[in-house]
Amino acid sequence: MPRFARLGERLDEIEREGLRRQLRPLFPTGPTTAELAGAEVDVFSSNDYLGLARRLRSAWRGCGTGSSRLIAGDRNAHHALEEKLEALFCAPALVFPSGYHANLAVMTTLFESGDRVASDALNHASIIDGLRLSSAKVEVVEHGAASPDGVRGHVVEGLYSMDGDQLELRKLVGSPWLVVDEAHAVGCLGPGGRGASFEQNVVPDVLIGTFGKAYGAAGAFVIGPPELKRLLTSKGRSFIYTTGLAEPAARAALMGMELATDALREQLAENVRRFRSGLHQLGGRVPPGKDHIVGVVLGDRTMQAADTLLDQHIFVPGIRYPTVPRGQERLRFSLSAAHTPEQIDRCLEVLGRCL
Ligand SMILES: Cc1ncc(COP(=O)(O)O)c(C=O)c1O
Repeated sequence: MPRFARLGERLDEIEREGLRRQLRPLFPTGPTTAELAGAEVDVFSSNDYLGLARRLRSAWRGCGTGSSRLIAGDRNAHHALEEKLEALFCAPALVFPSGYHANLAVMTTLFESGDRVASDALNHASIIDGLRLSSAKVEVVEHGAASPDGVRGHVVEGLYSMDGDQLELRKLVGSPWLVVDEAHAVGCLGPGGRGASFEQNVVPDVLIGTFGKAYGAAGAFVIGPPELKRLLTSKGRSFIYTTGLAEPAARAALMGMELATDALREQLAENVRRFRSGLHQLGGRVPPGKDHIVGVVLGDRTMQAADTLLDQHIFVPGIRYPTVPRGQERLRFSLSAAHTPEQIDRCLEVLGRCL
């Protein structure tokens, strides 16, 4: 079979299943607005939870680091960022180019051949891929289930990115390593923005956080014991064999951490209350949880609802299989501290027509 025929067949299948994905360039015009195909839209689908991304542009000067941090790519900006994180979490921190890199390094370094590791069924792809790359035996457990006996670790997320829920983390303390990916919670939840686990008064053994969401920059970090930091530095392949986080990104992340204040977190919480109670008044099934990710499951009506919202200049792409299971297709609303009450009310008004 000619080389491209097989690719063509797979593309045809994706088309037949209605699962073709499309890129749509967005030109941000404000913290929560953008130009999309020549029209102004309100953006309700970005992870810029505190509305900081645009405020950080002035920090994006200079160029990349040129090589791995272990070769010639280590910068003062990385260390300043790690010191800031260490002061916040009172534990060693290591900065990575992305959350994906951080998860690959943690899973492959922490877990070895012969280990059994529990992984929550709704974990992010970067956790799944990291565990697959490790030589551990992975036990995928039902969402929110307790740790099976004898596992070496249990990996969960602090705030689930598609369902917007938090697990009861106290139930999971007990296996040697509780690993919590706080990508969607750091900056927003818990004292000082330390994440959902700290909000629940649980200190994970290992915490992964990103700068690409609430902190409005790019990059990620791992918090854990000193031995883990040392091991990640020497054995974490996705730390060693990749170019260090771009220096402007590290500076922007530092600025993002400084700008992520309690006042912004309170503003975000206020916007979430407004959106969730408005959704309740619409008679829609308000998804469980109290936080800034609100997944409205509409099944096969999802893409049509996304189109209706876009017709009214509200941008919330539908989330489909395989990101969520078939039948669980949804609109995933991400609230930001930067949304205005008027934007939220208008979004609810249009959403009301889709329920
Ligand atoms: C739970 C979770 N972990 C990790 C990542 C990856 O982070 P990054 O975008 O910095 O690679 C994401 C990204 O969406 C995520 O949702």
